[in-house]
Amino acid sequence: MSKMAGNNETNTDVPVFGDCIRKEFMLRENSVFLNHGSYGSMPRCVHQRQVKYLEEIEHHADIWFRYNLYEYLHSAYKKVADFMGVSSDDIFLLQNVTKAVNTVVKSYPFKKGDAIMISSFTYGAVGVTVRSLVARLEDVAVHSMNITFPISSEDSIVDQVKLFLQEHPDIKLAIFDHISSPTSVVMPVKRLTELCHQHNVLVLIDAAHVPGQLDVNIQDIDADFYTGNLHKWVFCPRSCAFIWMNPRRQHSWFKPLVTSAYDNDGLWYAFTYEGTKDDTPYICTIDGIDYYNRIGGMEKIVGYNSVLLKKGVEYLEEKWGVKRLQIPEHMEAPNLRVLPLPSLPGLTDDETQFPYEVFRGQKGLRIQKYILDKYDIQVAIVSVADTLMVRIAAQVYNTMEDFIKLGDAVFELMKG
Ligand SMILES: Cc1ncc(COP(=O)(O)O)c(C=O)c1O
Repeated sequence: MSKMAGNNETNTDVPVFGDCIRKEFMLRENSVFLNHGSYGSMPRCVHQRQVKYLEEIEHHADIWFRYNLYEYLHSAYKKVADFMGVSSDDIFLLQNVTKAVNTVVKSYPFKKGDAIMISSFTYGAVGVTVRSLVARLEDVAVHSMNITFPISSEDSIVDQVKLFLQEHPDIKLAIFDHISSPTSVVMPVKRLTELCHQHNVLVLIDAAHVPGQLDVNIQDIDADFYTGNLHKWVFCPRSCAFIWMNPRRQHSWFKPLVTSAYDNDGLWYAFTYEGTKDDTPYICTIDGIDYYNRIGGMEKIVGYNSVLLKKGVEYLEEKWGVKRLQIPEHMEAPNLRVLPLPSLPGLTDDETQFPYEVFRGQKGLRIQKYILDKYDIQVAIVSVADTLMVRIAAQVYNTMEDFIKLGDAVFELMKG
């Protein structure tokens, strides 16, 4: 077994991963939760801490907002910066990666004839943001590069990007996902950044899934901006992300989307004070990161998750007669895996399940809800190149039993 493969059985203060540690989370009893990747899940102790802060606000809102808040925030910035291996002077906390991407893309000073690069791996919502921004600008283009499966190597992606940049010299800003979603590929972002800089293209890395999942050296990647969520894999409350601005590549146009009283007092205050809002998720990064470290840190957590996921996915491949997306092993995200959804004649394709029109056309969401309602199993059903896939996430509270239950449920639907 590799160094990463052990679980935490030797640390007596921490419940053994699986059923025992699940009791520290607030997950619905007996439900199968194989979708940590979408919204994360925080342990009860972090939630309780957030409630305590919310109570502190109500005890005396002025003391909180005028005096204590900034002290708490400075400690949170330090904690996140240390965890991510960067200086707290170079990061800003914001609600999510969506906002971070919007901040860069909407403050970049595009000129007529410029273009922005995305790819078929760009997160759907980010693609929509980019396209709708560009539609409002005069003579600015979006160039999207199509990445197809099977992926043979990092080189194949780097070579494709190289050619793409040569064919589109108007590109000024490129967005790459560090771990793509929904395809769950670890992209060679350092090499892509180097390549873009050779073409005078700025780089924004969308690393929504990276904090807590990959051991990353942000400074070494050397992108212009790097953003990650803390509410996915670091056990922090939702509405918690950071953006890092490369100190070696300062961009004076970079500004928060929403500003308030401290717009002229430096970027930190401009980012931090957007008017009255709830900052407790940021402050609880201290507790989320402490929890992450207390239960064993990356080696133990990712070690457990990746071993369980490998075993679970091999079981499902056999049970359903499918093969997971073909990518080199070192490019597979440790906690996430994608399998084709078998044909399910036993499934009632009921459009009326969703009260809101916006969801009804999305077949994957309907199937996901059907499996949830019928079996109490949460797993992401996603579309990759117009094919429906199952994206499975493993976290410390999961066990092989979860995979067996998912395997049986889908198998029943396969039989019609
Ligand atoms: C690659 C990627 N980018 C951006 C996002 C958006 O994250 P959020 O909704 O927290 O802003 C996600 C969410 O899953 C993602 O996977």
